[in-house]
Amino acid sequence: MTVRWGVIGTGGIARSFVGDCARAGVVFVAVGSRTRESAQSFATEFGIPRAHGSYADLVADPEVDAVYVATPHSRHAEDTLLAIEAGKHVLVEKAFTITADEAQRVVDAARARGVVVMEAMWTRFLPQMTMLRQVIAEGRIGRPRIVEASHHQALPSDPSHRLNDPALGGGAILDLGVYPISFAIDVLGAPTAVAAAGTLSDQGVDTQMGIVMTHDGGAQSLVHFALDVRSPNTASVIGDDGRIDLDATWYTPTTWRIRDRDGEVVEEFDGREELAGYVHEVRAFEAMIASGDHEATAMTPEGTIAVMRAMDEARRQVGVRYAADEAAAAR
Ligand SMILES: NC(=O)c1ccc[n+]([C@@H]2O[C@H](COP(=O)([O-])OP(=O)(O)OC[C@H]3O[C@@H](n4cnc5c(N)ncnc54)[C@H](OP(=O)(O)O)[C@@H]3O)[C@@H](O)[C@H]2O)c1
Repeated sequence: MTVRWGVIGTGGIARSFVGDCARAGVVFVAVGSRTRESAQSFATEFGIPRAHGSYADLVADPEVDAVYVATPHSRHAEDTLLAIEAGKHVLVEKAFTITADEAQRVVDAARARGVVVMEAMWTRFLPQMTMLRQVIAEGRIGRPRIVEASHHQALPSDPSHRLNDPALGGGAILDLGVYPISFAIDVLGAPTAVAAAGTLSDQGVDTQMGIVMTHDGGAQSLVHFALDVRSPNTASVIGDDGRIDLDATWYTPTTWRIRDRDGEVVEEFDGREELAGYVHEVRAFEAMIASGDHEATAMTPEGTIAVMRAMDEARRQVGVRYAADEAAAAR
């Protein structure tokens, strides 16, 4: 069965994602934009047959089976619910929503409508991450006790850019922090405690933040992220009998190695790929549609909600507040 994809939004990641996945054989049949011109030029560029001048028209397209949502964070819940109500399966860019409350409502709606909804946390679907989970499950580094991961990028400082605008869900945490937080939760499980410290911009979003999460059995994760500086972006999983080191850039297809407890390299891996790596999440998503098992995934709804809860709590401690927080508090 071929899944026919529609795209909502024609910005930066929509271009990278569609370009990458189309080269890997994913079938895109329609794109929807707030403006017909932008939809048409995107469709022309990527050879997509139909261009819609609104998101409502895109989700109403009977030839579309699954929708990829690539809008700013502040729109994710609304755009995803629109597609779910139209009976479409939905792959939603990270961060899934603004709050855990919104995430729960989206997940409930998808379950009630019988469609797949999944956060596009593509890193979880990279072959290197499947192998890493297996290495840990086989006990090759002993019991995992610490995860260390960072995500630092020097991004545009323009105050009107979505990354800096609280109205669009700006800030480092939803854009960048979500990667190391999701990785820590993937390896160590949902946190039992979250302690965060951060720096806010004049606009009230976090420019950098450090979080220590405590997990079952006292294991800890240390994650740091910032949107105004660049670092090597490496990660480690440290066990009581060895460790795993992921090279730059750890959340993309990269090289990594297992070391024994003395630091000697035991095995090296090369996870680099020709494409950026978005196709793996798409193939996993399509497999869920085909099997009818809508939550058999490396990024389950519960996993996403655990990530959103951790981010809610970190933001609460640091003082990053969005309109969706007021809505959740009023409910
Ligand atoms: N997986 C990854 O590697 C990755 C990388 C970067 C970003 N992302 C995620 O992808 C999402 C979009 O990020 P992006 O960098 O692609 O953003 P972007 O370049 O600003 O594009 C966002 C698109 O959303 C639509 N949109 C709807 N309402 C909007 C509004 N009020 N302001 C601006 N745009 C609006 C626009 O498309 P139309 O004009 O066509 O409606 C716009 O082109 C975010 O969730 C981000 O975290 C993921």
